[in-house]
Amino acid sequence: MKSIEETIKGRRSVRKYKPDPVKDETILDLLELATYAPSAGLAFGKEHPWSFVVIKDKVMLNRLSDVAKAYTLKFIENVPAFDWFRPSCQDPHYHLYYHAPALVMILGEKGSPISLIDCVLAAENFMLAAHAQGLGTCWVEWTKQAAQDKALMAELGIPEGLVIHASIVLGYPDEIPAAPERRPPHVIKWAR
Ligand SMILES: Cc1cc2nc3c(=O)[nH]c(=O)nc-3n(C[C@H](O)[C@H](O)[C@H](O)COP(=O)(O)O)c2cc1C
Repeated sequence: MKSIEETIKGRRSVRKYKPDPVKDETILDLLELATYAPSAGLAFGKEHPWSFVVIKDKVMLNRLSDVAKAYTLKFIENVPAFDWFRPSCQDPHYHLYYHAPALVMILGEKGSPISLIDCVLAAENFMLAAHAQGLGTCWVEWTKQAAQDKALMAELGIPEGLVIHASIVLGYPDEIPAAPERRPPHVIKWAR
């Protein structure tokens, strides 16, 4: 088993996947590990601080990619900081999910900052646990744009009161990118 340090430092955002599917049991294991994250919702007695949507259906993954790209294009229309991403959104061959065999969404309560924190912590657990098992992940933020397509969200079973707080592709890595540089921790003050 990898050490915690190896697991944390070795996890990368993977953007090239093998076509091999990920077993449902493996995904379920990872979801279970995700729910071991710290959670304010649990402390408040919430039964389900997180809900999950798992998509393995290729047709749905392609459709979601197309819908999210179209809404993202609108979203970044007048945002020069995202000029670099416009050509990808306009490219019909660009796959937002890098052709990964699975996408996991972590859903929380709409309008609750605490729920967002719970879901993000669960997401990190999920990504680290996946890496520890030889799987690759990548957070794909743009999925949130697809939430504007109400019919699609309904098809995915996402009820009105829940929002996508995290969207993570999952699969067996075909290429592991180099680690972006990490700088030493920027400690502003250490009051001893
Ligand atoms: C909130 C958030 C949103 C991200 N959105 C995307 C995304 O839409 N597409 C993508 O390829 N990577 C995305 N990433 C991955 C980052 O680019 C990646 O974590 C960063 O470059 C550091 O690389 P590493 O994860 O390999 O350490 C996102 C990461 C976070 C935390």
